[in-house]
Amino acid sequence: MIIGLMSNKGGVGKTTLSMNIAKGLSSRSSLVVLDADPQQSSTHWNRVGKLSGFECPDLVTLEEQSVDEAIAKLSNQYEHIIVDCPPSIESAQTKATLNLADIAIVPVQPSPIDLWATVHIIGIIKESQARNPRLRAAMLLNQLEPRTTLSKVMKNAVGQFGLPVLPIGLRRRAIYRNCLLDGRSVYDSGVRAEDAIAEIETVIEEIFKL
Ligand SMILES: Nc1ncnc2c1ncn2[C@@H]1O[C@H](COP(=O)(O)OP(=O)(O)OP(=O)(O)O)[C@@H](O)[C@H]1O
Ligand SMILES: [Mg+2]
Repeated sequence: MIIGLMSNKGGVGKTTLSMNIAKGLSSRSSLVVLDADPQQSSTHWNRVGKLSGFECPDLVTLEEQSVDEAIAKLSNQYEHIIVDCPPSIESAQTKATLNLADIAIVPVQPSPIDLWATVHIIGIIKESQARNPRLRAAMLLNQLEPRTTLSKVMKNAVGQFGLPVLPIGLRRRAIYRNCLLDGRSVYDSGVRAEDAIAEIETVIEEIFKL
């Protein structure tokens, strides 16, 4: 299965989700992360993780080749490909991913600015679905603070946009940021990451139900 993490806005959690979902799924299936973002955040993450001695998912950095070429090659070798896209829906990488993916996940933070930026992406996803009928897509709320009014209002608001919303989002947790210090995933972070691991596991389950 090809799963693309995409958004039209930076810093919404594409790389955090790509790398943690990859670690969770790679324990049960063959999987590769395709870093399609020129910022190469997941590539750096993976490099630091390996240097720190963690077992990291396989990762390929998009350099000379196109997304199409990379996916054509990788789909012969791996059961799942997770594509970490650049923060633009107009980028060639995101467009190519939409044409080839089975699943597109759009992380959205619980703020109206993020939601406004998402309206555009929904139209493009719908157009892509006309070309690529396999494509299922959903928004995923990230950095939720369950007790705040904004998070509650946003949960209702995202549901009005004509794209499914995963029933589980990620809470704002320091562990997601701390993991970056030594390139680990929440799965490598012991008992203090139990809640985050459970959250990522549920996200994986929900993605497979789409
Ligand atoms: N649920 C969360 N709780 C706390 N921090 C988070 C959470 N999700 C993401 N972050 C932090 O937010 C920052 C941005 O996340 P990330 O790099 O995954 O976003 P991105 O969409 O890939 O960004 P870019 O568009 O620049 O590639 C990072 O510092 C990350 O650790
Ligand atoms: Mg990123």
